[in-house]
Amino acid sequence: MFDVNNIRKDFPMLKQRMQKHPLVFLDNASTTFKPKSVVDAINNYYLKETSNSHRGDYDLCFNADQKLLETRGVVAKFINAKREEIVFTSGASMSINLVAYGYASKFLKKNDEILLTEAEHASNVLPWYKVSELTGAKVKFIPLNKEGRLTLNNVKKSINKNTKIIAIAEVSNVLGFIAPIKEICKEAHKRNIIVVCDGAQSVPHRKTDVKDSDVDFLSFSSHKMCGPTGIGILYGKFDLLKKMDPLMSGGGMNAKFDMCGDVEYLLPPVRFEAGTLNLAGVYGLKAAIEYINKIGIENINKYEQQLREYAINKLKKNKDIIIYNETAESGIITINKKKVFAQDEATFLNSQGIAVRSGQHCAKILNDFLKTPATIRISIYFYNTKEEIDKLIEALNKEDYLDAYFLN
Ligand code: ALA
Repeated sequence: MFDVNNIRKDFPMLKQRMQKHPLVFLDNASTTFKPKSVVDAINNYYLKETSNSHRGDYDLCFNADQKLLETRGVVAKFINAKREEIVFTSGASMSINLVAYGYASKFLKKNDEILLTEAEHASNVLPWYKVSELTGAKVKFIPLNKEGRLTLNNVKKSINKNTKIIAIAEVSNVLGFIAPIKEICKEAHKRNIIVVCDGAQSVPHRKTDVKDSDVDFLSFSSHKMCGPTGIGILYGKFDLLKKMDPLMSGGGMNAKFDMCGDVEYLLPPVRFEAGTLNLAGVYGLKAAIEYINKIGIENINKYEQQLREYAINKLKKNKDIIIYNETAESGIITINKKKVFAQDEATFLNSQGIAVRSGQHCAKILNDFLKTPATIRISIYFYNTKEEIDKLIEALNKEDYLDAYFLN
């Protein structure tokens, strides 16, 4: 049974205060809090099980290898992939860079085309600009519909004979709309186009099945799903990973090398994991996914949608609030208060103990589409409550900022 009050007891950060108020954390698209089991798993690595993986013939090392293998398995099962298709990286940005440099820069040529959308995060735009610089391929943008959604129809209209890669977020980090990834993959694969999906805002919140969607590459981060920072995942179809070059070389990823410069790499995924891995991160990530599995990703998704609906209904009652994504399906709600600059409002909310993100949210092209220099983003996770939403609404409804500051 999903019981938010019980769940909240698992998160030490939820007991923190900010500006003399109980903390209301609504910036979960940026990062999430960690349950105690995740912190314990990391501590356990440092306090009782420290060793390196792949590099020793003693018990501690064997344990680390075992944990690495198990974690790859847990991640693979979470998204319905095979264990050998899971590469550990430093985060979602690194995962996309790996595909951009290791795959796209290797195979794309002058005048090939890469399709993105205006809603992409910097991490899913800048690596592709670099590919363009290196190969002469062109970056083009699939238009969003009026609401800001990516539609299959617009994808179809944007594809031409030169399109080689479509790189899109499954859930936009600002508008929170869900892209029809499965249908896009079906359309793309008819023309041998590779689909690279940024799953940073989708994998932590909704069921992901890479076999069902048939996506070619998928990137996501541990820290946005209750896990530690500094570790992320790249899923890639094994045949594609085999063709991809490593971005970094070094220990642990080669089979042999000699003085003539002949080098043989190991097979994926270790080919892409040069150097000592973030093993504390691996321990923490395993605990994070096990925690999410215990709650159930479907329960998480359902609860977040209910909370979203609750928040939207309340926000709509304040005529000074502009909602940019009323119909989105995720826990991301992007707003502005009429005649108030987003960052000023966010600073005021901070004074009331409420954490939200304001500004451009790393999706800097989207502001032209939204016709505003900045927005306030409220992003929900499964440990947030209706009471927290009420506090947010109450603070947003306050008119007289100076009074509110002084009465604080
Ligand atoms: N990518 C994170 C966000 O959208 C940092 O806030």
